[in-house]
Amino acid sequence: MKIPSSIWTLLIGIVLTLASLWYGQNHGLLPTAATDEAVLVDGLFNTMMIVSTGIFLLVEGILIYSAFKYRRRAGDNEDGPPVEGNIPLEILWTAIPAIIVIGISVYSFDVYNEMGGFDPHSIHEAPMNQESMKMPGAAIAATLSDASANTASDQDHAQMVQQHSVTIAQNVEEESKPAELQVNVTGLQYAWIFTYPETGITTGEMHVPIGRKVQINMTANDVIHAFWVPEFRLKQDAIPGRQSEFSFTPKTVGDYVLICAELCGPYHGAMRATVVVEPQEAFDKWVQEQLVASKETLNQAIAVNPADLSPNEFLAPYTKDMGIKPEILHQVHH
Ligand code: CUA
Repeated sequence: MKIPSSIWTLLIGIVLTLASLWYGQNHGLLPTAATDEAVLVDGLFNTMMIVSTGIFLLVEGILIYSAFKYRRRAGDNEDGPPVEGNIPLEILWTAIPAIIVIGISVYSFDVYNEMGGFDPHSIHEAPMNQESMKMPGAAIAATLSDASANTASDQDHAQMVQQHSVTIAQNVEEESKPAELQVNVTGLQYAWIFTYPETGITTGEMHVPIGRKVQINMTANDVIHAFWVPEFRLKQDAIPGRQSEFSFTPKTVGDYVLICAELCGPYHGAMRATVVVEPQEAFDKWVQEQLVASKETLNQAIAVNPADLSPNEFLAPYTKDMGIKPEILHQVHH
């Protein structure tokens, strides 16, 4: 019995589709998906993987089949048939890729939109400050014109931090939306610095709690760096004199590595930081520890407060250098 070619086509089509669907979701090429946004990105990646697996198997399958089936037999010295042009076939192989590409574009735009990529400001509906309310873009223009001076970018960042503290205050007052966790990120040769404007914590290790949206306000002090956490499926440039904003919602507990993904100098490869995703309680505990630690440093720094000292006590370190004894000083004063 001879199986008709249409049946073969159907069977091969089914097998190809199933194989592609399976591999597209079991390729194991991606690391843990540690944020809600990572799941969206993985959906897009898996879809593209399904489509490309199908195309790969189809093209390679036909190639290998044809190489065997139409190979030159012994004693066959004839030319192949001169096949030229096939309008329906050409329309078909133009239309199919066009539909696939348009479909993937729409899907990826949708993913980008859901990640807040088109409107990173959507969370701050309250204006940043009075100036930007009057003249949108004025703050950005000022930042760009100042960007030439190295010290200016430091001031800019301080300014940005200030502006964002204002935003948080407004958000908290209005209580219109659940407050995101604000984290200011600064990239510099060759480290990452994280500041939490709500608590004033500054660290070299980023901690974020599960399930709460994290709003990143990022800049760079010297050259362009890039924030990349593969498990978050996020990559964003940190640019001197400009603020990059993006957000994500941590989902999976773990220690991840933030990798600088922009060649920024000889030690670019070592520019890494740890990102810890932890439950809310663990995060709160960490915040407390950081606050205690910073308080201790602060107390040490202001241990000698001139206002609290008597003139003798205040002068003691100086007079000691000059070889004057405290007793003599005491006599001089009286
Ligand atoms: Cu910073 Cu590479």
